[in-house]
Amino acid sequence: MYRALYRKWRPLTFDAVIGQDDIVAALKNQIIHDKVGHAYIFTGTRGTGKTTCAKVFSKAVNCPNTVGGNPCGTCNVCTGVDDGSLLDVIEIDAASNNGVDSIRDLREETAYTPSQCKYKVYIIDEVHMLSTAAFNALLKTMEEPPAHIIFVLATTEIHKVPATILSRCQRYDFMRITPENIAKRLQYIAGEEKIELTSEAACLISRLADGAMRDALSILDTCAGVTATVDEETVRKMAGVTDKSYLFSMSQAVTQQDAAATIALLAQLREKSVDMKRLTEELIYHYRNLMLAGIGGENGLVTGVSVTEEQQYLQCAKREDVSFCVFAIKRLGECLERMSKGTDQRIELELALFSLCEGPTTAAPVDLAASAAAKPVLAPVQTTAQPAKAVSEKVVLPQTAPADAVPFAQWAEVITAMQDRDKLLYGFMCNSQAYQQGKYVLIAGTDFLFDYIRKNKESSALIKKVIEEVTGEYYNIGPYKLQAETVADKMQAGDEALKHLQELGIPVEYK
Ligand SMILES: Nc1ncnc2c1ncn2[C@@H]1O[C@H](COP(=O)(O)OP(=O)(O)O)[C@@H](O)[C@H]1O
Ligand SMILES: [Mg+2]
Ligand SMILES: [Zn+2]
Repeated sequence: MYRALYRKWRPLTFDAVIGQDDIVAALKNQIIHDKVGHAYIFTGTRGTGKTTCAKVFSKAVNCPNTVGGNPCGTCNVCTGVDDGSLLDVIEIDAASNNGVDSIRDLREETAYTPSQCKYKVYIIDEVHMLSTAAFNALLKTMEEPPAHIIFVLATTEIHKVPATILSRCQRYDFMRITPENIAKRLQYIAGEEKIELTSEAACLISRLADGAMRDALSILDTCAGVTATVDEETVRKMAGVTDKSYLFSMSQAVTQQDAAATIALLAQLREKSVDMKRLTEELIYHYRNLMLAGIGGENGLVTGVSVTEEQQYLQCAKREDVSFCVFAIKRLGECLERMSKGTDQRIELELALFSLCEGPTTAAPVDLAASAAAKPVLAPVQTTAQPAKAVSEKVVLPQTAPADAVPFAQWAEVITAMQDRDKLLYGFMCNSQAYQQGKYVLIAGTDFLFDYIRKNKESSALIKKVIEEVTGEYYNIGPYKLQAETVADKMQAGDEALKHLQELGIPVEYK
């Protein structure tokens, strides 16, 4: 059976965990000095090692032969946790339904002493998802914890965990892992797996993963599935990194105050079905990068882009004016806000671009010298926009729905909600469309999306879960295929957009 790389390479000891040195040192120290607490909470971005450390810790507190705070890895306890057969380490996924049931039984269950071990360890993943009733049950147990019980809670959303729970836990904040550390680990795993991975590719993956080792390994997995040698080009294709040169063309036209050229560029992008809102977000992110590059980008302020793009920003930034970038970000932020109120997105963006070409006539001038002096402490620019993500969308053709399927109205919401749940999946889902057919949501997306769903077993469950959260109803999901005649018609008509997609190297499925 195929095991995803990120599962296969889950660190089994503290020493194999990368990028969380302080946390690992503190936990090992408690093991060495036999001073373990009764409740811990691990928080931080997904894919940074929370569940991993919880499991290692559950072994370490029970392993009779620890070595410098690390579990030995060979005793019955260690192997039992690793293969999931040890009854005294209980993993509860609060995001799934049985999570709530498990918590309900918690109080009775915790009364029993562990069967084989010193401690019974409850690992409660995604703890913020617990219902109020379940939180209360948990809290009751935590208030008078039996001596043989340890709770390790994990969450990506600490602000959703009640303060009454938090105050009873030792808290550990997991950091985003640096691109250097991610790249090193990728090279190591690729070596062990006999995957040829160029250093440029490792570097790009580590930047796209934005601090999450899990995402980095998923990208590597996807790439290694299609080619023997993973190079930068493969990564770009598989991770959906599209050529962003249009952003540079656009800001250049704006700088030259060439309104006609700017609006013409916008029209071209629209013809390629580029979503106006997404484009606005991308432009905000683009101007942010230009701004950061302009005020000392050599210090690595520009993030989430490839090395080549970073170079491009550093070069362009000399020509761009930082205060103008600030103005552009503000103006585009306002544009985005208006768009979300339901005004015509194209007109809004045209207006914003037009006013950028005109220049900041009414805006207060930004003191350039002051912002340069304040280099390391960058005042964040207030926009309502989320910076566009580095893993970007593909151009997807507008598709015609079959007779009994209607456009699924809340799909955009589902995509947005995915952003914080699974960044890579979110990247693949951007610009996909969905139709509703009875209790099915049929997704029209790229091959990459379906490939990703196939290879990452949890992703289809996650999509269903998010749909349920957004709509309050359970739907099955399936792929939405273009009907044969429609495609044939499109091909015969020599559909410009379709041709363009193929020129871009994006596979188009005709089924
Ligand atoms: N700090 C880390 N060091 C090494 N590998 C990691 C680290 N964090 C995550 N990983 C990889 O990502 C996978 C998922 O990590 P996990 O601990 O489940 O993340 P989290 O619980 O924080 O979302 C692990 O199986 C491992 O392959
Ligand atoms: Mg986890
Ligand atoms: Zn052991």
